Amino acid sequence: MELKNKVAVITGISKGIGHALCKQLLAKGVIVYGLGRNDAEDLSGENFHFISCDIRESAQVTTAFKEIFASVQNIHILINNAGLGYFGFLEDLQEAQWHEMFDTNVNGMFYCCKQVLPKMKQQQSGHIINIASTAALDGMAQVSGYCASKWAVKGLSESLYKEARDFGVKVTCVYPGSTKTDFFRNSPGIKPHDQMLMPEDVALMMIQALEMPDNFHTVNLEIRPLQVKKN
Ligand SMILES: NC(=O)c1ccc[n+]([C@@H]2O[C@H](COP(=O)([O-])OP(=O)(O)OC[C@H]3O[C@@H](n4cnc5c(N)ncnc54)[C@H](OP(=O)(O)O)[C@@H]3O)[C@@H](O)[C@H]2O)c1
Repeated sequence: MELKNKVAVITGISKGIGHALCKQLLAKGVIVYGLGRNDAEDLSGENFHFISCDIRESAQVTTAFKEIFASVQNIHILINNAGLGYFGFLEDLQEAQWHEMFDTNVNGMFYCCKQVLPKMKQQQSGHIINIASTAALDGMAQVSGYCASKWAVKGLSESLYKEARDFGVKVTCVYPGSTKTDFFRNSPGIKPHDQMLMPEDVALMMIQALEMPDNFHTVNLEIRPLQVKKN
């Protein structure tokens, strides 16, 4: 797809992968609507629109998309990026942390997909990218809640790609390995370091998936650092 002048919605643009992707899409001439609780100071220009929205709240998501559809006819791209993780032994996870992960990583994604799918199907085109994690591919000790939420993202994405493809709508699920962002703030054991993936690299892979010709699509995108850090 030629990206210039296409309309994209990205959740979670204040930092990390979503922020890097937003910058790269803007550089390609995409009209970007960033949905999130916080804006980023360095995102600006006539093609960038920030809409305050906590994606855990269905009503806020509905209002945000109403605002977007009041200005544009079509949304061509939805990137479900917003997410977070809490770590530790299952019995030590707080219920509030469990619910926050599922409300953000899974329910928020569901609310956003529901908003764009009818229009995308009607226009017989569109591309939804859901960010899962390599934690959606293997169970990991002390990552049970986050893994469970990202396995749900994998299940949603694999099902959705099969039901949307006949309507000309692409669905890609991205499985990044450890990426150097603020994501690890809730992890007592892991500190971001330079052998991790860079958020710009993960963003670049998504740009490439978006730019692929219309007759095929990237179903799964697994991205890992080349070398694992040895302590
Ligand atoms: N970093 C990694 O190693 C890694 C690996 C695999 C997958 N991922 C996934 O990649 C995605 C991006 O993570 P990241 O590494 O870029 O982390 P990050 O730097 O912590 O960024 C997360 C983004 O999500 C937004 N967000 C969180 N809760 C939200 C909510 N309720 N409503 C709206 N926005 C919300 C945050 O915005 P505010 O907090 O400012 O609202 C922030 O912009 C997540 O889905 C994460 O699970 C990350």
